[in-house]
Amino acid sequence: MSDPILARVAAIPRTIAFVGLMGCGKSHIGRRVAALLGRPFHDSDAEIEAAAGRSVRDIFAELGEPAFREGERRVIARLIEGPPAVIATGGGAFVDPTTRAALRQKALCVWLRADLDLLVSRTAGRTTRPLLLTGDPRRILGELMEKRYPLYAEAQVVVDTRDEASEITTMRVIAAIAAHCQTEDR
Ligand code: S3P
Repeated sequence: MSDPILARVAAIPRTIAFVGLMGCGKSHIGRRVAALLGRPFHDSDAEIEAAAGRSVRDIFAELGEPAFREGERRVIARLIEGPPAVIATGGGAFVDPTTRAALRQKALCVWLRADLDLLVSRTAGRTTRPLLLTGDPRRILGELMEKRYPLYAEAQVVVDTRDEASEITTMRVIAAIAAHCQTEDR
């Protein structure tokens, strides 16, 4: 990655928000992009957990999904008002019309698009995602893909993720953001 491309993306006066389904790599790649750009990184799930004093799984179990979604809306509304940063949003955040509109208006949204096999293998064996604990994860992820992919497609930048080194995905994300901004400038 040439320095001018990195410098161009670092100078974008907007927060970069990662959206996409569970397991696509929003937090992992988001953290790397933030480090490269010298920006703070925020994970919306972690912020909701800190505010509620319990894990996402416990919030779903004890307070219910609507309470989690309300917390998610509030946390993301606060984060996008802050100085330019990188945010990894929870997989359902961009599905909410208010949050989606706010993110599209205030941030540059990057959808990490992944195929079903990759999502299944990346989420396997984890017990932190309540939505995947209610049945067969492959079936649930498949249904969520059908419902959510048309909405994630509203992100300004789309990057296909593969089973590849995260350094490579990170660089492809930076290049895709730079290319998007160049088209916007024209
Ligand atoms: C959810 C995704 C999770 C978390 C919660 C609900 C979803 O975040 O917010 O379990 O609705 O897709 P990740 O996408 O970071 O796993």
